[in-house]
Amino acid sequence: MSQPAKTILMQTKKLGKTFSHGGVQQHVLKNLDLTLYQGDFTVIMGSSGSGKSTLLYAISGMDKPTLGEILFAGQDITGMSNDQLAVFRRKHCGFVFQQIHLLDTMSVLDNVLSSAFLVQKNRTAAVSKAKQLLAEVGLDASKWTKFPAQISGGEAQRAGIVRALINAPTAVFADEPTGALNSAAGTSVLNVLTELNERGQSIIMVTHDLKTALRGNRILYLRDGIMVGELQLPPFRETNGPERQEQLQTFLADLGW
Ligand SMILES: Nc1ncnc2c1ncn2[C@@H]1O[C@H](COP(=O)(O)OP(=O)(O)OP(=O)(O)O)[C@@H](O)[C@H]1O
Ligand SMILES: [Mg+2]
Repeated sequence: MSQPAKTILMQTKKLGKTFSHGGVQQHVLKNLDLTLYQGDFTVIMGSSGSGKSTLLYAISGMDKPTLGEILFAGQDITGMSNDQLAVFRRKHCGFVFQQIHLLDTMSVLDNVLSSAFLVQKNRTAAVSKAKQLLAEVGLDASKWTKFPAQISGGEAQRAGIVRALINAPTAVFADEPTGALNSAAGTSVLNVLTELNERGQSIIMVTHDLKTALRGNRILYLRDGIMVGELQLPPFRETNGPERQEQLQTFLADLGW
């Protein structure tokens, strides 16, 4: 049976990023032509320093590339001013980082609301959306009024995911979202991401962890700023772990990971 055609989420054309260190130039991303698709759980892998985070920041409009073009949600974001880019990011991008940047003087709920577009127009609707999402990621109502210091790392990361989702972003970008968590908390965060993807949320995640990468259905491998490998996997299910893990391990072994 043929697969339904996928819709393009974003495309990069000859994307380049160069950093200068005391007059010496480091070409971190080199001529990248990349197409990402809606509804995919895309995973970007590669060794430390290969440019994964740099790529994620460029395609999400957090940092500007040196060369090339990025077409995202039908718009060329490379030509945007910083102000335009900030508006674009707020509307289209949700971010989940390894370090969870919740503001410690605000409750969990207020942290989420601080990112909500809707909050100035219709606070009641924003609060009810925030509460619905907090419940969906499994954060008990007793935690919503707590401060970040009073909850666990895994709970904080789930609140971080809700903050990333509050504006119904076109794509969620995650950079090592479980890197600072213990195994159980990491798994619960990955379960939340998997469930979001099952409901159609496009996710682009950077990781060097095999178990984390296994949640993706498309794995891209970056080496020295060049995409050197790609693997399509069936979507993650609790029951298909071993075959997918073997496929991914073979793919990574061939790349010398
Ligand atoms: N803001 C910056 N200024 C200068 N150099 C940078 C900057 N950001 C990244 N680099 C350099 O770009 C290269 C790639 O960095 P990047 O953070 O993208 O790697 P990574 O693949 O995410 O690595 P890791 O797995 O360790 O997070 C590194 O050599 C890094 O020193
Ligand atoms: Mg990184």
